[in-house]
Amino acid sequence: MIDEKIISILKNHRDGYVSGEDLSKDSGVSRAAIWKHVESLRRDGYEIEATPHLGYRLLRIPDKLIPSEIKSVLHTKVLGREVLSYKKIDSTNVMAYGLAEKGLKEGVVVLAEEQAKGRGRLGRTWASPPAGGVYLSCILRPPLPPSETQKLTLAASVSVARAIRETTGLPAMIKWPNDILLDLKKVCGILLEMKAEQDEVEFVIVGIGVNVNTPLKTLPKGATSLRAELGSDVSRIKLTRKILEELEAGYGLLKNNGFSKIVEEWKELSDMLGSRVKVTLPNRKYEGAAVDVDSDGSLLVRLDNGFIEKTSSGDVILVR
Ligand code: BTN
Repeated sequence: MIDEKIISILKNHRDGYVSGEDLSKDSGVSRAAIWKHVESLRRDGYEIEATPHLGYRLLRIPDKLIPSEIKSVLHTKVLGREVLSYKKIDSTNVMAYGLAEKGLKEGVVVLAEEQAKGRGRLGRTWASPPAGGVYLSCILRPPLPPSETQKLTLAASVSVARAIRETTGLPAMIKWPNDILLDLKKVCGILLEMKAEQDEVEFVIVGIGVNVNTPLKTLPKGATSLRAELGSDVSRIKLTRKILEELEAGYGLLKNNGFSKIVEEWKELSDMLGSRVKVTLPNRKYEGAAVDVDSDGSLLVRLDNGFIEKTSSGDVILVR
């Protein structure tokens, strides 16, 4: 709390110094304590200059997933109302799932700088090296039957693609159901996990992994990062905020009968429709033309014999 107070005072005076005396008065702790807090903030990566007779000055904010930084100018009502950030955990999805089971509210966000056991779709792992990624999971409690959660998958992918486009200007595209690609290389994956009764969803964990400034050598073949595509570092803090803002907007639309708008946008952002695709399910494979997205979010694939297959899970690859 005191750390946040000190940073907020220093942020309000970025063009000059704040004396130790003023900092102490405004934050309500002794001058000796101020020094200790400044030392601890420096250990967190804040660059704070301390000059005798002048005082303290904030030079640089670290691009770490610090909850107070994420929340400081976050334009959401619910998502990110509580942000928990970890240096290293097994999986933000597993952590968020456990918290949701304990009753934590919709909108709680779990972040990590690194994941030891990042989870991917279809039982795969998600490479989650330190220094550069955004690994984010958000608790939602949607008023939807379990059969309609595929809609949330599409809404999440549209929201994240928009956030990447707005933050970087890069032409992020979607591959069904929710991979985000740049130049046909995967830059982001989304994994929804839910707890549901027969006809009621208790909660959904929306897990989002973005390779932001991640070194390419730490990623699997065929993957890319925002930095690699853009040629410069991207602020993970700004991207995280944007993702939460877009996700809240998309989720709001979904709850207010706006799914058709989401599908429309999904189609604009997807370079799949019209293309030939190969679909792999646990027990069979088929190939055909991706022709449309259904009202429940499934991908419709026209086989060579004219039959339309409805695809609601599995792996889809583009055949070029
Ligand atoms: C995919 O296979 O494409 C989905 C990858 C999802 C990765 C994210 S990273 C944050 C969250 N926590 C996890 O363990 N997985 C998701």
